[in-house]
Amino acid sequence: MMNRGPETYGIGRERENILPELLIFEKKLAKEPVDIKEGIYYFDAHNHGDWFDEEDIAEWDNGRLESNWKKQTFLKNPVTKKLIETIVANEKEVIDLACGPGMGLIPSVKQLNPAFHCTATDASAMVLEHWKQYLDRYCMDHGVGFAQFSVLDMPFKENSVPSFSSNIGLSSTRNGKAGYDAAVKEVYRCLESGGYLYAIESEWIDVAVILQVFERWGQEPWTCFAEEHMSWHDRFVRAGFEIISEEIVQHRIFTAEDNELGEASERFGIQVGTKETAFVLRKC
Ligand SMILES: C[S@@+](CC[C@H](N)C(=O)[O-])C[C@H]1O[C@@H](n2cnc3c(N)ncnc32)[C@H](O)[C@@H]1O
Repeated sequence: MMNRGPETYGIGRERENILPELLIFEKKLAKEPVDIKEGIYYFDAHNHGDWFDEEDIAEWDNGRLESNWKKQTFLKNPVTKKLIETIVANEKEVIDLACGPGMGLIPSVKQLNPAFHCTATDASAMVLEHWKQYLDRYCMDHGVGFAQFSVLDMPFKENSVPSFSSNIGLSSTRNGKAGYDAAVKEVYRCLESGGYLYAIESEWIDVAVILQVFERWGQEPWTCFAEEHMSWHDRFVRAGFEIISEEIVQHRIFTAEDNELGEASERFGIQVGTKETAFVLRKC
């Protein structure tokens, strides 16, 4: 292991300086991090994440992270507000998956309860490093931990995590259906028995209708429509989750301004698009 930070990982080490929440985090780990730097735990997952460039970083530093940290969108929508309130009322901490530059559900959780402990995770080290720099600079005692890992291969022991959250986190994994299935399986493995996943996930409203558009258009369906579609609901149930609640957050109908599919669907008078659903799921 290289470059251990003051929050040194490893059984039997001097641990007086370690923060209690980091100790709790470490107790859940089945794998040793490859590095801990500036308080970020690294599990060498960058191949799974998005690649961000200088332009993205300039945008983050020029106000995007700030506006995402302060955004009120989830607390203004009744469905997502209820989801955030449920997390804050029922949990002591949450680990947010594939938090990205939007930071998942963490900004909203923190707006409701600034003392609530959250861990921001993503496969991209870059996004976590920029978030940590931003919060350390502008938000003293932010109480957010950071860990770089892939949702497809999490470093936790089986049955060790009380709760995860995700805002389009599982929907952001690659490899289509196989990636989604692997992510859900991995979340289920790591959750404690009776633990919760609070997730807003995105999917096509109706793939059969989209295929009709391609047929009338005379085009081969895009590869993402070629594989058999399974809803997030069915995927969660199949993995063993009990669905405690499931509510539509929003529908987004494609238009000609979005892409060629939007343009074709408008031409044939058929509505196609995506929907986001908020789930509260319990590991049985
Ligand atoms: C569009 S963002 C997800 C939305 C984000 N949670 C939000 O609240 O705005 C996509 C993020 O998913 C991350 N990601 C993609 N695949 C991943 C994986 N297998 N494990 C962890 N993070 C992943 C990317 O690195 C990127 O930061």
